Amino acid sequence: MKRRIREFFQSIGWVPFEGGEVKVIGDEPANTDYDPNLGPSAVGGPIEVKPFVDVPFPAIDLGKTDNPIPAIMATREFTQTCDFFASNPAAERSLVSAMSQALIYALIRNLRPQHVVEIGTFRGGTTEAMSRAVVANRAGAVHTVGPFDRDLFAPVFAHWPADLRKPVSFYPIDSMAFFMELERRGVRPDLVFVDGNHDFEFASFDIQCSARRLTAGGFIIVDNVAQAGPYFAVKEFLERNPHWVDCGCTPGIPDRTKAFDRGRSNIPGTDFMVVRAPTSYLLGARPRSFGEIVWNQPRVSGLRIACIDPQKSGTLHVQCVLRGFTDSPVAEVVAEASRKIGAGTSNLDVKFENPPIVQPDCIRYSVEPWLIWIGDDPLHLRAVPIPI
Ligand SMILES: C[S@@+](CC[C@H](N)C(=O)[O-])C[C@H]1O[C@@H](n2cnc3c(N)ncnc32)[C@H](O)[C@@H]1O
Repeated sequence: MKRRIREFFQSIGWVPFEGGEVKVIGDEPANTDYDPNLGPSAVGGPIEVKPFVDVPFPAIDLGKTDNPIPAIMATREFTQTCDFFASNPAAERSLVSAMSQALIYALIRNLRPQHVVEIGTFRGGTTEAMSRAVVANRAGAVHTVGPFDRDLFAPVFAHWPADLRKPVSFYPIDSMAFFMELERRGVRPDLVFVDGNHDFEFASFDIQCSARRLTAGGFIIVDNVAQAGPYFAVKEFLERNPHWVDCGCTPGIPDRTKAFDRGRSNIPGTDFMVVRAPTSYLLGARPRSFGEIVWNQPRVSGLRIACIDPQKSGTLHVQCVLRGFTDSPVAEVVAEASRKIGAGTSNLDVKFENPPIVQPDCIRYSVEPWLIWIGDDPLHLRAVPIPI
């Protein structure tokens, strides 16, 4: 089965690489074998990378505030964080300001994420700030994505100290293929930096795919809101998702007569807007899926739900689409069940009366759960529902 999956990914032209290495399988570029002792690089000038050091940062309790950014920026320690990134040679390889890098660093230090994602690697300037934070946290992985960035990033990455390289995986693919890969691996990021293609449709896709997979209370940082694409993508996202928090510090002063407008960012010293997910997963009348889940058997019995005691009762409607993949057409069956939920409910298994079954000789299986909550208030889930 693993071989079939690998063949599938090779057939669409890529295989991900991990573990602090930049490797390409089946499409080896001439200059992959970069020697860290090389002099001036193809990206212009000698490559200087500071060793890992513990950079000062303001400690903020993210559980006590929905929007920690004003508090982070008001501290004396944050000035020190900014000083480090202003004098770090990577500043010249990045397309964002030193304060932007410092803010990314401080958020990751406080959030202590398991998975950080960057859409748009370029020369790895911001990737380095993310890796410094993850290494200082002693936990976490950095996934960075750029379909055109292999030859820009690899020679710089080769000069990084081994400890900074270790948590980083570089994916030379576009964000759509990357989000499919995250889903296949079951990875849920805690923080995503959206800095890829800045056209509205791409930025909107990157924000929505990030939101779908983000953990509760996680952050999406959107760069380049001076450009109309990222700005309207994040504004429309907030309009459609009113429970998300706009983590601004100052009122941006957008000029309605301009498409390109440097006055829009509501975070000083950056061109960012930052949004934060609610601290629980919300269900309402619009069907919600948390994505397709790789499954290992031809049957699914129900869905395990962990909810926060609802104040007002309502009805939860669950559907699971079970798929079995073979060489012939996909086998697909749908099971459904509904359950009234009232005060005092926390954990429950919603079981199907007739659990759906597909043929047992498939190459792989998947389950796509869908949930609808019909009630006065949204239903808050503590965790992403798990098929059983
Ligand atoms: C603004 S640069 C990133 C800068 C980098 N984050 C930094 O601050 O140093 C944007 C990058 O996005 C990448 N990109 C373009 N289209 C993309 C896509 N569809 N998916 C992911 N990355 C993309 C480009 O290769 C480019 O290097």
